[in-house]
Amino acid sequence: MSQGIVTVVGSYVTDLMSRTPHMPRVGETVLGGPFKMGPGGKGGNQAVAAARQGSTVYMVTKVGDDEFGSYARANFTKETINTEYVFVDLVEATGAALIAVDDNGDNLIVVALGACGTLTAEEVNQASQVIANSAVVLVQLETSNEAVLATVALAKAYGVPVILNPAPYHEFPREILQDITYITPNETEASSLTGLKVETEADALQAAKVIYLMGVPNVIITMGKMGCYYYNGGESGKLYPSFEVQALDTTGAGDAFNGGLAFALASGQALCDAIIHATAVAALSVTKVGTSPAMPTLEEVQAFMATHKL
Ligand code: RIB
Repeated sequence: MSQGIVTVVGSYVTDLMSRTPHMPRVGETVLGGPFKMGPGGKGGNQAVAAARQGSTVYMVTKVGDDEFGSYARANFTKETINTEYVFVDLVEATGAALIAVDDNGDNLIVVALGACGTLTAEEVNQASQVIANSAVVLVQLETSNEAVLATVALAKAYGVPVILNPAPYHEFPREILQDITYITPNETEASSLTGLKVETEADALQAAKVIYLMGVPNVIITMGKMGCYYYNGGESGKLYPSFEVQALDTTGAGDAFNGGLAFALASGQALCDAIIHATAVAALSVTKVGTSPAMPTLEEVQAFMATHKL
């Protein structure tokens, strides 16, 4: 099966992660540890997830003119991700995320976008040829709105399907919802988009219907341990259950799902198979600590899917 190009437009930040026995309350200092530093950012993690599945991946982002920026470039290269459109900002530093992971594997993140928050439409436009040649374009909200708008406009002009992962949720130009093919909010993001509570399968259906009416033909709401809910019009959608695994660290699970989905769609898989593939990539990612470093390879996913049935 041919594996088309996946272009990821979005964030790269350095992840600074510590375990914590419990999430600190306001004003509280908690003795945590161990500490881990590694490559992250939703865009970077999604690019690594797709590349480890076997996609040819181009990353469009921006880093600072600093050691963390050089580290980012070296890591992308190690992961066989094309860095032609990894721009350098001479003013802003490479972004960073402060991540606390508790004993249940749950996380709390503060992300300072730094350079990747200054990605411009003009820089995205420099990647127009690559976007035109892509099988799938994957974009998040962890960069400037102008970069997101430019990405969707280019993909639309070239007829390339876009997956929008609306994370982290903040206000964005809603008109792009008319021009994307897939949207992958988690429960919180689906709730922010619609103003509805999203906790149960029935809630997911109601929220998915609202998002569908905003113009997105394929709505996939990721729901952690419950799995993900897919809706593409009509009376109801379908809940795809998750695989049962022992979660060590759930940070980046959504990124694993999106990268896995982009790979599978770019490889020509039918959407139902692509969702199951993405679910397996996400399941394996939570069994390891970290974000980009925790993304599984295609061989690991195939072995897992051969022994774990949904
Ligand atoms: O989705 C997880 C990612 O969100 C982390 O890697 C962190 O960088 C934040 O952007």
